[in-house]
Amino acid sequence: MNKIVIAIDGFSSTGKSTVAKQLARDLGYVYVDTGAMYRAVTLYAMQNNFINKDHFKVNDFVMELHNITINFKYNKDLEFSEVYLNNSNVEKEIRTLEVSSFVSQVAAIPEVRYQLVKQQQKMGEEKGIVMDGRDIGTVVFPDAELKIFMTASADTRAKRRFDELIGRGDDVNYEDVLRNVQERDYIDSNRADSPLVKAEDAVEIDNSHLTLEEQFIKVKQLVTMTLEDRE
Ligand code: DC
Repeated sequence: MNKIVIAIDGFSSTGKSTVAKQLARDLGYVYVDTGAMYRAVTLYAMQNNFINKDHFKVNDFVMELHNITINFKYNKDLEFSEVYLNNSNVEKEIRTLEVSSFVSQVAAIPEVRYQLVKQQQKMGEEKGIVMDGRDIGTVVFPDAELKIFMTASADTRAKRRFDELIGRGDDVNYEDVLRNVQERDYIDSNRADSPLVKAEDAVEIDNSHLTLEEQFIKVKQLVTMTLEDRE
């Protein structure tokens, strides 16, 4: 059977990665979390003092981009690929609220996007890929066979993110998490380069009131229909 490209876009904490991972496992496809790539680049900027609460040395940082290598390596136990920044596993470090608070600024830089999008397009050359992010169906793979746009209310999403961070043992409060979700929605949707928008041909799924199982059934139906249409 022909393999396809599945693009999953949407606001932060809409559960894109959960459904993308489920789909990839089910179909035997590769899963790529593009948010992890922007987060890893942001972590580098933080570690090297290009960005903090008081400044963002954008031009210096852009000059430094050639020293940043992002890769994924499959973890058999976790059954997904973890992200590596210059050969070290940063999968955990990139999920903190601190990284979340800077990532939208870094992701708005055209040079950063250019480099990561090129790498993402290469990963999808052979198809058989599920990729999630903000611009996958609009910029990275405008010809993807199936495009899904996920939404949920800001409150639902902040609650999910809060539970996740608390579950990891992070010391965060709900108001900060909600503010971060709303700020990122705003920056991601209003940046000049590749803003977050629903592709015209994307299927929208609001999962505010769906269980993980219901959501998966819905998405799997879309995949089956797409594959049947191609036969
Ligand atoms: O999916 P996430 O929350 O891990 O993504 C982190 C940030 O990266 C998000 O706020 C916006 C940015 N991003 C992007 O601009 N383009 C993508 N394809 C993926 C993420």
